[in-house]
Order: sequence, then C-alpha cells, then structure tokens
Amino acid sequence: MCKTVLLIAHTPSPNTMALANAAIEAVASADTGNVIMRLMSPFDVRTPDVNDAAAVIIGTTENIGYMAGATKDMFDRCYNDWLESTAAKPVAIYIRAGLDGTATKTALLSICNGLKWRLIAAPLVARGAWQDDFCTEVSELCLGVAIGIDSGIY
Ligand SMILES: Cc1cc2nc3c(=O)[nH]c(=O)nc-3n(C[C@H](O)[C@H](O)[C@H](O)COP(=O)(O)O)c2cc1C
Repeated sequence: MCKTVLLIAHTPSPNTMALANAAIEAVASADTGNVIMRLMSPFDVRTPDVNDAAAVIIGTTENIGYMAGATKDMFDRCYNDWLESTAAKPVAIYIRAGLDGTATKTALLSICNGLKWRLIAAPLVARGAWQDDFCTEVSELCLGVAIGIDSGIY
C-alpha cells in the first residue's frame, strides 16, 4: 500500500520554495519504494491530511521571533483534533531563519511534544545568509524520512 510523507512547507520566498522543491525532487528521483512525498501549504492543511500521512515534515520560516503565522494558523485550527488522533506520528522539522531560529525551534518542539508526535531527526535550522547547501540539507532530511518510512524504521 502506498504511504505518504506529508511535507507541510510555508514557502513565501524563492529560497523557501527552492527548499521544498529540492526535497520533492530528491524523493521523486530516489528509490523510496511505496512512499511518496506530498507538498502542502500549511494554509491548506486540514486535520485528515496529517491523520492520513505516515509521517510529517514541517518546514517553516521564522518571522518576528516565532514560526510563520501560516504554520501557527495550521496548529491553531487542527491541534485539538490531532491531539486525539495522531499520537506517535513521526515528524521532522526544518526552519529557514535569516537571523536566528531558536524561538521557532523551541515552539515547534513544544507543540510536537504536546501532540506526542515522535521527532525522528534533529530539527534543522537553515540560519543566516542564504546558502545553496541549505537545499542539500533539507533534501537529505526529507529523503531520510521517506526511506525510513519505507524501510519500517519509523
Ligand atoms: C518581517 C520579517 C521578520 C523576520 N523575522 C525574523 C526573525 O525573527 N528571526 C529570523 O531568524 N529571521 C527573521 N526573518 C528572516 C526570515 O526568516 C527569512 O527572510 C525567511 O526565512 C525567508 O528566507 P529567505 O529570505 O532566504 O527567502 C524575518 C523576515 C521578515 C521579512
């Protein structure tokens, strides 16, 4: 049966879009068995999208000292539903932060902990001036999740 890794990426800029696209392309061009990666904006995510996913990757910017409003909005809308239906969901996190990223990482870890989601990789913070290597790092994170789901590690 086909399994979906849901990449929930807020992509307000060319750089953040490049991160998400790099991840999608990495998974599409690798052998991930019956696992596919689906890209959604947090604005479009509804409760069942996460319920139905084998794993979730949250990609957000840090803006004004916190996760993007789009990402926060998703949790505001869906948190209570997910609390009852998604315990132990495998999750990975990447944050694009022009300056810092610490507050966003702390907040996301707290939310994932509250939901009893299973963090399956250290949160990746792509911090500071843009580097093309960020795409490689995000791709490797996302590909690792897809391969891990396919092989039954997570
Ligand atoms: C209004 C605004 C507020 C921002 N606040 C923060 C912040 O608090 N911490 C931080 O690390 N970066 C901050 N940034 C930088 C963004 O994280 C960065 O621009 C965003 O992740 C997109 O990355 P890019 O500029 O490489 O496209 C801010 C950017 C804007 C436009």
